[in-house]
Amino acid sequence: MKNNTFDIIDSFKAKPLDELISKIEEKKHEGPEVNALIEQYLDAHPINIEEFPKIDGSYSRNVIYEDDVGFQLLITRWSSGAKTPEHSHHDFLFVHVVEGSIKEGIYRKTGEPLEAKPQHHTEGDYIFSYEPDYTTPHHLHTMHARTDSLCFHVYSKN
Ligand SMILES: [Fe+2]
Repeated sequence: MKNNTFDIIDSFKAKPLDELISKIEEKKHEGPEVNALIEQYLDAHPINIEEFPKIDGSYSRNVIYEDDVGFQLLITRWSSGAKTPEHSHHDFLFVHVVEGSIKEGIYRKTGEPLEAKPQHHTEGDYIFSYEPDYTTPHHLHTMHARTDSLCFHVYSKN
C-alpha cells in the first residue's frame, strides 16, 4: 500500500536513532530483547498517536529511518477496523504495539491458517520473526486493528 507511505517525519529528524539501530542489529535473534530496546527508546523519546496521519478505514505508514540495504523503521497509525491483506516479510520482522489492539492471522505458505485462533496483541506486545538465510519471503500474515492503534515496526532483508 505504497500510497499510504509517508516520508521521514520531521519530529523524528531530531531524535537519535543510531544507538537503537545498532542494538537491534546485535539482538535481532532475540525478540524479548528487541522489544525491551524499543520500550526503553519510547520511554526516553515518547511519541503521540496524533503526530501521525490518520486515514479513515486504513492505516498510514510513516518511515522514520531506512538504509540502502533494506533496514527500515516505520510507525503505523491504524484506524479502528483497518486490515491488511495477506502479506509476507523478509528475514527479520518486528512489530511493537505502542497503543491499541491488533488481531493477527498467521498463515502457512500454502495459504492455510497456521493458528487455530488469531493472536491478539495489545500495548507492549510484539510480533517477531527472524529466519536468516531464508531465501523466500516468509511470515505470511494479516493484521487487523480492533481499535485505533499505533505500532513501531523494524524490517530487515537479512
Ligand atoms: Fe506484516
